[in-house]
Amino acid sequence: MTEDLNSIVVAVDGTSGSGKSSACRGVAERLGLRYLDTGAMFRAVTWWMLRHGVDIHDQDAVADHMRQMVLASGTDPTGPTIAVDGVDVSAAIRTDEVTRAVSPVSVVPEVRRRLLDLQRQIIGDGGIVVEGRDIGSVVWPQAEVKAYLTADPAARAARRALEEGGSDVVATEQVLRERDRIDSGRATAPLVQADGAVHVDTTPFTLDEVISLLVGLVEQALEPAS
Ligand code: DC
Repeated sequence: MTEDLNSIVVAVDGTSGSGKSSACRGVAERLGLRYLDTGAMFRAVTWWMLRHGVDIHDQDAVADHMRQMVLASGTDPTGPTIAVDGVDVSAAIRTDEVTRAVSPVSVVPEVRRRLLDLQRQIIGDGGIVVEGRDIGSVVWPQAEVKAYLTADPAARAARRALEEGGSDVVATEQVLRERDRIDSGRATAPLVQADGAVHVDTTPFTLDEVISLLVGLVEQALEPAS
């Protein structure tokens, strides 16, 4: 089992605020796997564009500037890091400003192409839990385990508002729905349930239950076929 676990790829896609990040980190910690948050990569690119005054709605400008930055993602689930040009932006990428700007940056084909290369390099020989929107469909369709996490929008908004220190639940729900709409509607690598992905509606479950459910899927995938 250890040998297979060392090379396994667990692809977890899903909507914003479905509890993906906490669940994926928990699974990676429990199983001793690496962890990659691809959303953080899109956020880091967005942070860099805002920081350098690039018009995020000008796709050519975003594509041109994409070539200039150096991204580095740490894959320790107990303390994931992300740096751009050597600057740790782990906290800076979580601001409202970045959250609002990330969807238009994510639709730029050059951004997706560059990040796809990087993501595949990091996944490498596996032994990793990878979360995003297009992991099971585009980045690593051959993943041994694929899950698609969703949650009721109102429940997601309540959870996110709580995480963000009591911000407005109704406004948070609107932002989440809008991000889902853009993520699902874009032409390249939209958010979809990948072929072979197990759909998990996390609404009624605690974080621990979602982690156990995903660990169960990994264990199932490692069992020899009878
Ligand atoms: O998971 P997150 O909310 O931090 O992701 C931020 C944005 O990044 C999300 O709105 C869409 C984009 N994203 C993407 O397009 N593809 C991925 N694999 C991961 C994230």
